[in-house]
Amino acid sequence: MASKKKTIIDFRRMAKEGEKIVYLTGYDYLTAKYEERAGVDMILVGDSLGNVVLGYDSTYPVTMEDMIIHCKAVRRGAPNTFIVGDMPFMSYQVSNEEAVANAGRFVKEAGADCVKLEGLTDSCIERIRAINDAGMLVMGHIGLTPQFGAQMGGNKAQGKSYEAALKLIEGAKRIEEAGACSILVEGVPAVVGKAITEQANIPILGIGAGSYTDGQLLIYADMVGYFDDFTPKFVKRYGNVGGELLRAFTEYAEEVRSGSFPDDSVHAYKINPDEAAAIEALIAERFGK
Ligand code: KIV
Repeated sequence: MASKKKTIIDFRRMAKEGEKIVYLTGYDYLTAKYEERAGVDMILVGDSLGNVVLGYDSTYPVTMEDMIIHCKAVRRGAPNTFIVGDMPFMSYQVSNEEAVANAGRFVKEAGADCVKLEGLTDSCIERIRAINDAGMLVMGHIGLTPQFGAQMGGNKAQGKSYEAALKLIEGAKRIEEAGACSILVEGVPAVVGKAITEQANIPILGIGAGSYTDGQLLIYADMVGYFDDFTPKFVKRYGNVGGELLRAFTEYAEEVRSGSFPDDSVHAYKINPDEAAAIEALIAERFGK
């Protein structure tokens, strides 16, 4: 039986009661189907789509159109899972109006339950307030925020000094006050993840932020051993999907080349023997074969 979709009320209760929230990225129908079957609580259709699926070397080129297509596919694969649509670069930076309109597309066209946006600048906080005021759920994202990668001098761990940690801790509070339903904290020391979680009244999710946060996110393709262009320190591998694909593709290529696949006694459609004989007779008559 399909499990009931969790809501923000469930996530608040889970955070309060210390029940960890299981969060994974997903980008397509099939993967989302397996995630839902496995009982994942929340799926992020992340703009990491750019690296993981589209082959870009950053998330900057990802468009709203890309995100909507993939978010729709994830919704079809996981109809009973809480889905977060990640707002791509330049879908919310320009104005509150654009941010609200694009958040609305995630909810209205793609069936997302919530949107997420990166950053803790004043304008990011304004966008969170505007999206919340428009009646949508919005998750903040602080710490290592790849859309600010150029300003951070690359995608490096954040909050490693007292001053930097304080900025994140205070920023998280401002994001909560602006109406965010939750915050994702990425790439910070465990002590900073803990401090942010302890002071928050909303669920704090972590990716590379230690074990203390209310839930954990990983990029699914990292944790199943599928994406191997680079692997962040905080990733644990639970599978070897890439290795299994390589083995299967190699074996298939060998069998096609050797003629051992397909085996007509197994992999071909059957036909009445009289029809087969008539077709062979026709070919012999017409083409002399
Ligand atoms: O796009 C994404 O998958 C993300 C995570 C890396 C946090 O934002």
